[in-house]
Amino acid sequence: MAITLPANVTATPANTRNLLGAEDLSRAEIEWLLERGRFYKPQRNEPPKKLDTLRGRSIVNLFFEPSTRTRTSFEIAAKRLGADTIGIQTQGSSLSKGESLVDTLNTLAAMSPDAIVMRHAASGAPHFLSRYLSTPMINAGDGRHEHPTQALLDAFTILEVKDTLEGLRVAIIGDISHSRVARSNVHLLAKFGAAIVLCGPATMVSGNMAGIAPGVTLTYDMNEAVADADVIMMLRVQLERQNVEIFPKSEYFQFYGLTLEHLKPAKPDAIVLHPGPINRGRELSNEVADSQRSMILNQVENGVAIRMAVLEWVCGG
Ligand code: CP
Repeated sequence: MAITLPANVTATPANTRNLLGAEDLSRAEIEWLLERGRFYKPQRNEPPKKLDTLRGRSIVNLFFEPSTRTRTSFEIAAKRLGADTIGIQTQGSSLSKGESLVDTLNTLAAMSPDAIVMRHAASGAPHFLSRYLSTPMINAGDGRHEHPTQALLDAFTILEVKDTLEGLRVAIIGDISHSRVARSNVHLLAKFGAAIVLCGPATMVSGNMAGIAPGVTLTYDMNEAVADADVIMMLRVQLERQNVEIFPKSEYFQFYGLTLEHLKPAKPDAIVLHPGPINRGRELSNEVADSQRSMILNQVENGVAIRMAVLEWVCGG
């Protein structure tokens, strides 16, 4: 459907800094963001840093899809940098009265926030809108396309344990086709020389995913994917993006759910990641989710530090 832009909408000034996808980030930019994340992460037994970096700035958190981790961590990150935050969800906004997305974004931009963090079900929505807004835009997840801050916090978490991404064997397992987390991680990890294996049922792994970055292979066999893996990244089955059930729920766990038995062919020090929310008994067993190898809560913790770095980067703090 064509979207008519209001006459007063102009192209974005070239100096507006957005974070739309891991694909667009250079290796140097990623390294800078990871380094700033390290600066912002409290050391053991230290209280969280409360800073004035973005004092007087306003951040709008605009979420058109449910979120616990991303929305809360952006909110906490902004507050720790001294910024004011405004949270908007579909229910309670004028979108529910029929206002278009473009009009909503122009309305918010007219109030001069310093950045808009947006999650939307349509792939490319933040990319499209950012072409016409002078307000910096951060993609907090667009459809099945990208979730760049998730990939940054995943890399940050891996680096805390493994020191390097170069040469790591990373198995990404589950509903690859519908996963913005998988896509962003592939783009980011490939820039650092990781060997990435994508695995899931044939109905959830499209063949063209192997072509999006160098060093990516596909398999439908979980044992093959896990063999010698340094990192195993499990994905949520995205039922909200599937019109029909594309793999029987009762058999998914048997073939693609991670158990302690499935972990055996991995490297002895392999770690397990999952972006959350996790579905225990479908994507992974309780024993794996709650094991020493599980980095799931480390990922959540690191999300705050990484999002502080991203807000600083985008707002030019
Ligand atoms: N990983 C992630 O995006 O989680 P939320 O949907 O809870 O934000």
